[in-house]
Amino acid sequence: MIRTMFSSVILFCALGIHAQDLKVIQLNVPDKTRGSAVMKALSDRQSAREYATKSLQPQDLSDLLWAANGVNRADGKRTAPSCRDFQDVEVYVILPEGAYLYDARAHALNPISAGDYRGAVAGSGQDFAKTAPLSIVLVADMTKYGNMSEGSKLMAAVDVGIVCQNINVACAGLGLATVPRASMNQAALKTALKLTDKHLLLMNNPIGYPKK
Ligand SMILES: Cc1cc2nc3c(=O)[nH]c(=O)nc-3n(C[C@H](O)[C@H](O)[C@H](O)COP(=O)(O)O)c2cc1C
Repeated sequence: MIRTMFSSVILFCALGIHAQDLKVIQLNVPDKTRGSAVMKALSDRQSAREYATKSLQPQDLSDLLWAANGVNRADGKRTAPSCRDFQDVEVYVILPEGAYLYDARAHALNPISAGDYRGAVAGSGQDFAKTAPLSIVLVADMTKYGNMSEGSKLMAAVDVGIVCQNINVACAGLGLATVPRASMNQAALKTALKLTDKHLLLMNNPIGYPKK
């Protein structure tokens, strides 16, 4: 894993790609009418640990992120409820070329770091996660709670779990394969995503089209 990450760093240095070279990805307008009905999506939901290598189509990426934790009301509230409407869940998107943070209001992906961090998402012993063309990493921003008490961490974990389930159900409805995961290389992701001690890295979802 370390060798893979090291190779990625060398490759990106050799190519001269840095975070400032990555562009904001403005997402398509979400199509809120598509997809299966909720009952069908729940019926289809299951963990999948094999993925086709094909990248996600722009509309699928847009719709998935909006479903995960997008803005669904004029007052800025989200598809996922959150404790006291703290909106503490940050949705990071790991693509082969870099890590991005989902800006729900702008419905865009803002670059954070250049490089392939899918190995950091995989962690040790679950190499299948590296084969997904995209991963979502869910982080609780504890500054929204104003403290790191056990009670606040528990509520933040619930908030993350709700966004994670939005992802699981949206994937089922949109014909995508995923698995919710707690395993990951926390230290490597903390660096890649430029997180502080006030962030909790809680879950991730490798995502791709189902392997035929
Ligand atoms: C909190 C949580 C953590 C999980 N962590 C992992 C993980 O690290 N690796 C993995 O392969 N699956 C992980 N899973 C997926 C479960 O193994 C899976 O949901 C369970 O076996 C039931 O299968 P199903 O999702 O197909 O119903 C996790 C699920 C949850 C809810």
